[in-house]
Amino acid sequence: MDGRPFRHAVVTGGAGFLGSHLCDALLAQDTEVTCVDDLSTAPPEHVTLLSDRPGLTLVRANVNEPFEVTHDVDLVLHFASPASPADYLRLPLHTLETGSLGTRNALALAREHGARFVLASTSEVYGDPLEHPQQENYWGNVNPVGPRGVYDEAKRFGEAMTVAEAEVNGTDTGIVRLFNTYGPRMRGHDGRAVPTFIRQALAGEPLTVTGDGGQTRSLAYVSDTVAGVLAMAASDLRGPVNIGNPDEISMRELAETVIRLTGSPSTVRLVDRPADDPMVRRPDITLARGKLQWQPVVEADEGLARTIAWFRDHRPAG
Ligand SMILES: NC(=O)c1ccc[n+]([C@@H]2O[C@H](COP(=O)([O-])OP(=O)(O)OC[C@H]3O[C@@H](n4cnc5c(N)ncnc54)[C@H](O)[C@@H]3O)[C@@H](O)[C@H]2O)c1
Repeated sequence: MDGRPFRHAVVTGGAGFLGSHLCDALLAQDTEVTCVDDLSTAPPEHVTLLSDRPGLTLVRANVNEPFEVTHDVDLVLHFASPASPADYLRLPLHTLETGSLGTRNALALAREHGARFVLASTSEVYGDPLEHPQQENYWGNVNPVGPRGVYDEAKRFGEAMTVAEAEVNGTDTGIVRLFNTYGPRMRGHDGRAVPTFIRQALAGEPLTVTGDGGQTRSLAYVSDTVAGVLAMAASDLRGPVNIGNPDEISMRELAETVIRLTGSPSTVRLVDRPADDPMVRRPDITLARGKLQWQPVVEADEGLARTIAWFRDHRPAG
């Protein structure tokens, strides 16, 4: 974080998958961290994990209610939100409220402290995209009343509110559109493809690939995404900026790679595709490369091998 060393960051959703890695990366740069999390989708073991970190304070609170942090804050990373389809389908109203009320409250905190604010938005704002790869100036193809609408529209609203806050109150805001990220600390049952396939492969069960497996995703390893977010925080860019890995992989190919890397006897089983599941997803990261001097460096085989090793050691119940 050469551009702006931060003294005290607030990370909403800091007990989650990405949030916990961000907390660790900030602590490693001597930034004090307050993690605000209601533990609605965080695994319980993350409370123990984070409680042991010197320099980190864990506050259990729902950011949809106004909240205060008493001592000076110079960075707010707003990462609170259910993120996996299994979670936001289970928590639809909470998801909408976190994208709207939660974003309003996190922005208010940044405004009160004169802090830099970064919103974790998502490639889901592009919906089932009609342009490929997706550039930041593409407006997306989202079904607001479909099952994924609660997540996609919450994030789209959060982006609009972030832009309005900068315009009206001059708050220093940035928006990152994160593409699928994977790595250690994901929950085996959170419904996302990588942890599902790894859990199934390690258990010797069939890997459940939806549809014909031809749909693609672009998967970024967590350390790459964290580096992109921190580069955005250190900049004065408003964005939105895509942060993701442009290497595209079909779901069938991903399942076969996981089988190969685990050495599992598992096979692939095709199951029904969920409604409004995007067919393709790939970020255009020209902007991040040019303005943040950031690009992903971890290849899929390496990132998957590290994630598989972590799952073998932890065998999460979640
Ligand atoms: N992981 C990805 O691939 C990905 C991709 C795009 C965007 N994102 C965004 O990044 C953020 C983190 O995603 P993740 O994968 O770490 O998900 P996660 O579910 O592991 O973490 C989300 C965290 O937010 C907390 N939370 C949810 N609602 C809250 C509320 N109202 N108040 C306080 N805490 C709340 C949860 O308890 C959890 O700890 C989310 O905003 C998500 O939309 C993630």
